[in-house]
Amino acid sequence: MTIKHALIRNWGCQMNVYDGQRMADILVKLNYQLTDDPDKADLVIFNTCHIREKATEKIYSELGRLYPNKPNMPPEKRDRIVAIAGCVAQAEGEEILKKSPIVDMVFGPQSYHRLPEMLEKLGRKKGTKILDLEFPTEDKFDALPATNVTYMASSPKPVTAFLTIQEGCDKFCSFCVVPYTRGAEYSRPAAKIFAEAENLLQQNIQEITLLGQNVNGWQGMGTDGNQWSFARLLYGFAETFPQLKRLRYTTSHPRHMDDELIRAHGELPLLMPYLHLPIQSGSDNMLKAMNRGHCRDDYLRIIDKLRASCPDIALSSDFIIGFPNESDKDFADTINLVNQVNYASAYSFKYSPRPGTPAALLTEQIDEKIKSERLQILQQLLNAQQKAFNLSHIGKTLPILFEKHGKHAHQLIGRTPYLQPAYADLSDTKIGQEIDCVVDTLTAHSFAVKPIHNAA
Ligand code: 5AD
Ligand code: SF4
Repeated sequence: MTIKHALIRNWGCQMNVYDGQRMADILVKLNYQLTDDPDKADLVIFNTCHIREKATEKIYSELGRLYPNKPNMPPEKRDRIVAIAGCVAQAEGEEILKKSPIVDMVFGPQSYHRLPEMLEKLGRKKGTKILDLEFPTEDKFDALPATNVTYMASSPKPVTAFLTIQEGCDKFCSFCVVPYTRGAEYSRPAAKIFAEAENLLQQNIQEITLLGQNVNGWQGMGTDGNQWSFARLLYGFAETFPQLKRLRYTTSHPRHMDDELIRAHGELPLLMPYLHLPIQSGSDNMLKAMNRGHCRDDYLRIIDKLRASCPDIALSSDFIIGFPNESDKDFADTINLVNQVNYASAYSFKYSPRPGTPAALLTEQIDEKIKSERLQILQQLLNAQQKAFNLSHIGKTLPILFEKHGKHAHQLIGRTPYLQPAYADLSDTKIGQEIDCVVDTLTAHSFAVKPIHNAA
């Protein structure tokens, strides 16, 4: 069989990265090799994100940039297959095929396990267009081949991996497209999650990040036949995989941050002391309008309990600025909450009306200039908090899990338990090892570190 080349480009969240890897798993079985070269690619997949505006425009302009001479060539004359996958595909569907003749396939996040059939159909009749946006009744994950991390990065082999355990969202925050693009909440059974983790460990993976749109809302069949909570699953990881070095999870919803999970943060050394817990706004008015299902005090109580359980936990969040009707007072409440919590890092975005979501219909949209001013004030504060958090580690000893080569020879890059990047002069053999290092200096967002023993 001849070897074909596939280029997969991901936008958006970590789950898209995971989905892109799973598509690669399928394609390798179909005798494709992965490439970064758009000219060499026989198959191009854009795995897209629809969370904020301009996503669709970006896809069209990127297609035009990569293949400027191809758009008007009839499909039956073209050898290269172009596919749009992910959340833009799910949201825009047939519109993409109409607008962009260069595209042959459009499929959503719940259909990519059917890639072999789609490619087969396309191969049978040149010029066919494929549109698959069905939410399957079968288990997508069951239909996927086992993950093979070796071809994802040419060198060195990765030591960290993502593992989707939960997908979809039933919360319907009024600003968010996710419930429409990813579908209803679904939790994979623990046995299947553990089988996937076992396979990753056999490939030298040292750190696993569990993924889900509401990852801590996971609840499913345990390996003992009983219904498990998310916290029970984490304890299950610690019991089943004593050789695993680090466990993380993202993204969490405050509504599922229960006492058992908070206790796990204090009790499980495997669980890294870092939590991304989006609140979106510090104003109760906004939280209500956003349909978040929790108020500011609920969130602050969770933070207090988390810090009592795991005193060194580093916190991160997402904020939306300029949601319809956001007043100066609402914005001041957000600033005040940020000052109260003191974040190690955080993401903040201007509100962007998404077609089909309830908030997009609200008439009291905030002026762009005000959004920009507020965002700048918030980001200045968050950056200052991040810098102070990072500086507080100078001179301290932290375990660094080294992952890959740095810019210079004999330099490796890794991460602290709090996800800060760190680099040290070390030989390649230390990739995959967790080494205690003293933090020397901070440049931008990375630490220069030195192993405390002569580990080079
Ligand atoms: N506008 C701006 N930001 C949004 N997010 C989700 N939807 C929107 C939107 N319409 C942000 C939220 C979420 C993160 C993934 O993206 O903060 O937590
Ligand atoms: Fe979107 Fe809200 Fe669901 Fe998160 S919880 S994915 S923000 S609808």
